[in-house]
Amino acid sequence: MSAPGLFISFEGIDGAGKSSHIDGLAQAFMRQGRTVVMTREPGGTELAEKLRELVLHQPMDPLTEALLIFAGRRDHLQQVIEPALSRGDVVLCDRFTDASFAYQGAGRGFDLQVLSTLEQWVQKSGSAALRQPDLTVWFDLPPAVAAARLAGARAPDRFESQPEAFFSRVAAGYAARAAASPQRFARIDAAVDRADVARQVAQVFAGRGWLAEEGAR
Ligand code: TYD
Repeated sequence: MSAPGLFISFEGIDGAGKSSHIDGLAQAFMRQGRTVVMTREPGGTELAEKLRELVLHQPMDPLTEALLIFAGRRDHLQQVIEPALSRGDVVLCDRFTDASFAYQGAGRGFDLQVLSTLEQWVQKSGSAALRQPDLTVWFDLPPAVAAARLAGARAPDRFESQPEAFFSRVAAGYAARAAASPQRFARIDAAVDRADVARQVAQVFAGRGWLAEEGAR
């Protein structure tokens, strides 16, 4: 029998440095013979990538923003994530719903109850359980460190251009989501050097029996 699908999301404030670690994990899973789907939110489908463009660059009110993000998420789940998990693939998703609670909820101050309702609508199909990642790797680092890393990197989008106080709230939002689902979240101290972060990530995957520790780096 083939291995069951794995759904892993990666989270953290802008500048937390998750992308290169996602690449390394994809390689490690492929070396073990797994099929890997690397994807991202907002985005991941043709429709959701169009919505991403709007969300990141077009001014809009917070409800419109939340609705577009969750509309894209629905399409992404139906077109990409659920089919991949049914095939037994490993889905590595750069951000998922925790980002909505952190950015729209904690960052923008949007109603958390409404976000929970949208989460139920979008991530549930029929009598199946609410779809959540099997693991969420949370790259945690102080907003001041993240801001220094991002400085001058490229033209900022609607989120990256927010002040440090916004990212302090986003970071607190992630911490609250992690505290509410401690089994699902693995916190990585992302304020240390890249090799050290990679070691921590490798330990998480080895600890779950999903990758040999050396293989994950
Ligand atoms: P990001 O993964 O940081 O893209 P990039 O590395 O290309 O900048 O994500 C884009 C932004 O979208 C990021 O600032 C967080 C924001 N975002 C939300 O506000 N809500 C969400 O639900 C998601 C998934 C992302």
